[in-house]
Amino acid sequence: MTESEMPSSDPAGSHHPRAVLGIETSCDETAAAVVIGGSEVRSSVVSSQVDLHAKYGGVVPEIASRAHVELFTQVISEALEVAGLDPRSPEIDGVAATYGPGLVGALLVGLSGAKALAMTWDVPFVGVNHLEGHLFAPLLEEDELAWPLVMLLVSGGHTLLVEMKGPGCYRLLGQTLDDAAGEAYDKVARYLGLGYPGGPAIDRVAVSGNPLAFKFPQAKLGDGLDFSFSGLKTSVVRTVDRHPEASTEDLAASFQHAVVEVLVAKSRRAVEAVGARGLCLAGGVAANSLLRRRFTEIAAELGVPAYLPSRAMCTDNAAMVAAAGWWHLRHDGPSPLSLAADPTLFLPFSD
Ligand code: KG4
Ligand code: ZN
Repeated sequence: MTESEMPSSDPAGSHHPRAVLGIETSCDETAAAVVIGGSEVRSSVVSSQVDLHAKYGGVVPEIASRAHVELFTQVISEALEVAGLDPRSPEIDGVAATYGPGLVGALLVGLSGAKALAMTWDVPFVGVNHLEGHLFAPLLEEDELAWPLVMLLVSGGHTLLVEMKGPGCYRLLGQTLDDAAGEAYDKVARYLGLGYPGGPAIDRVAVSGNPLAFKFPQAKLGDGLDFSFSGLKTSVVRTVDRHPEASTEDLAASFQHAVVEVLVAKSRRAVEAVGARGLCLAGGVAANSLLRRRFTEIAAELGVPAYLPSRAMCTDNAAMVAAAGWWHLRHDGPSPLSLAADPTLFLPFSD
């Protein structure tokens, strides 16, 4: 998307940064990226800590914070070098970092590092909401988006249906009342002995299973746009306990079928309810192959384009943080250096 196509206003006193360094450390990925003009990705480096956490079956906050500290300098230098910039005095116009939601210790590493770099280079600093970062991912890969969009944001901690009228302009349509979709994937995978992270493992195994082998509950919650996945998770656990001989592939495929059908049904309903002109996926679970296929199918049925960010842009990365940071620097100006990490930050909704 070019600057002129952005639908929001540009208030007086805003900044006009070109190159923004994005930093993401909210969970178990240490990431840095250089993005030019809010959409041209010059570099995107993601150092995953998955191996460090896998033996514990989930992210261990203390280990994550320490690993971020150890990886930070190297990841930043690599992002600058790949972008063709001198790591000692790069031509950077702003530094953006995730300040929430996420693990507080992990967030603090990226946030403090970003502030220090902004001060050293004498450029503005801006804090970015991680969830909003995910919503910017499609803007990095699509030249033109048809607004308003219905965005399904499905990650390890959130499941949200959002009407996006443009960058910075969001309306909450629905959300999960209990587990997030990614959380359900991770918990079920652990129960099936598939390890951590569970989403990619179930996605892989499900390919050779029968999605109709088990009829797991698909909580539709009436006509609303909210979700619930805890009953589904419990049902899988009960089925495994009752049928220890059941094939893991069939269980994974049937679980995935139930999750995806609910996500797809609610997304379709949301597009119809708001008269959206496009349908978009964001967040780690958006990397799921069945969800991507079904999204493309329902978008075609509804006659609207489906925007599916590449898998690398769906899962946590810093390019999306740089893009959101660029936009906020332009439209709202820098954040104060006193900005604190906010582990429970939610998306800002305009109405
Ligand atoms: O957005 P993300 O990278 O981190 C958070 O902000 O939470 O999302 C991580 C979540 C995890 O629950 C992971 O299991 C899930 O995304 N995930 C997937 C797939 N790849 C990652 N879930 C289903 N299928 C996948 N292919
Ligand atoms: Zn995320």
